[in-house]
Amino acid sequence: MDETESTPAAASTPPLPPVMVAVFNQKGGVAKTTTACNLAVSLTAFGYRVLLVDLDTQGNATASFGVAPLPAEGAFEVITGRADVADVALDTVYEGLWLLPATQSLRDNDHLLTPSGRRRGLLEARLAGTGVDIVVVDCPPSLAAATSTALASATAVLMPVHPDPFAHDGLVNTWYEICRVRETVNYQLGVAGILLTMTEADPTGADVTRVIRAEFGDQVLGVEIPAQIKVAEAAQLGLPVTVLDPDGPAGLGYVDATREMLALLVRQNRHWVHLPEAASRDAALERLREWRATIHADLLNRSAIASGLAEARPRTTGERMSQAASVAVAAPKRAKWRVLTLNQFIALTAAFVAGMAIEALVEFLGRMTH
Ligand SMILES: Nc1ncnc2c1ncn2[C@@H]1O[C@H](COP(=O)(O)OP(=O)(O)O)[C@@H](O)[C@H]1O
Ligand SMILES: [Mg+2]
Repeated sequence: MDETESTPAAASTPPLPPVMVAVFNQKGGVAKTTTACNLAVSLTAFGYRVLLVDLDTQGNATASFGVAPLPAEGAFEVITGRADVADVALDTVYEGLWLLPATQSLRDNDHLLTPSGRRRGLLEARLAGTGVDIVVVDCPPSLAAATSTALASATAVLMPVHPDPFAHDGLVNTWYEICRVRETVNYQLGVAGILLTMTEADPTGADVTRVIRAEFGDQVLGVEIPAQIKVAEAAQLGLPVTVLDPDGPAGLGYVDATREMLALLVRQNRHWVHLPEAASRDAALERLREWRATIHADLLNRSAIASGLAEARPRTTGERMSQAASVAVAAPKRAKWRVLTLNQFIALTAAFVAGMAIEALVEFLGRMTH
């Protein structure tokens, strides 16, 4: 992470702690990681300096940026004070966006994170010197120590909700937990919105949506993220859908959800939420289209080189560039294995034919001697 770069909206005033948005819902599979990644990229397109923190031990957000396997140092080391964020955050291809990756150590040692009483403001303190405007945290789908660490420092929580029949109960439980953290550990914890994700035109989904909107009112963002196959396609390519398809329904949904979330944070008028003014929607979309033109084209070139066998990943700077390259060279293994099988097949056939010829010769010689 290069701290010498200047903030787009750099002010002469001393740096303020970044606004921290934790993306959390106790339910799994509701698009938390998808939302965290798209939100982080959209915020960057709006001109903010953003740090995406992957606190999910599955490391899906980290993998979404082409980092595989998980690096040796990342979020766990920063939280526990074993590493400095400036040393372990990774550059991404999106200028102004950094990634603090999940690590194997987070997976193995989640229980070693600081006891809850001392978590208050810990992550905020660890990330204070980054100079970013916004930190987006992808939380695991449970109240693991990592989630508590994030909620104990967060400015606000963004809750993605997939309106299936169990969504309401999941949201009520999550809401209850947020209220509990607010009352006990982080009095300033706010709500950055409830975001309906993967919505479809089915009556059950519509009913659940109606109930949630009626109960949670203007905490629910007006924008919904429709279910769209492009989102899964984008995830496979290692791109957020806002970059793969910025003008499609899901891509535009995330851009508009980002604006709405920012407006909601500003409307809450909390004096500690300081954000420079965002770029316009048109400017953000233009930036996303530019990224699509350059990054996606680069990806297509690289997947063409790998003959469609490699897992295509966007190229990034630093560690990620070498990791992406190693993914590409791994691909020919399968082709080599196929050539070997063909050789074995030819050798076996030749041996079989030679065996038949010898047998025929022996039979012929036998007949000659009788
Ligand atoms: N709008 C969408 N349309 C279609 N598939 C989606 C959408 N959003 C997320 N998904 C898919 O749903 C699955 C779960 O999403 P994910 O972000 O990993 O959820 P979580 O982090 O809550 O477990 C992933 O396969 C993802 O690609
Ligand atoms: Mg996830």
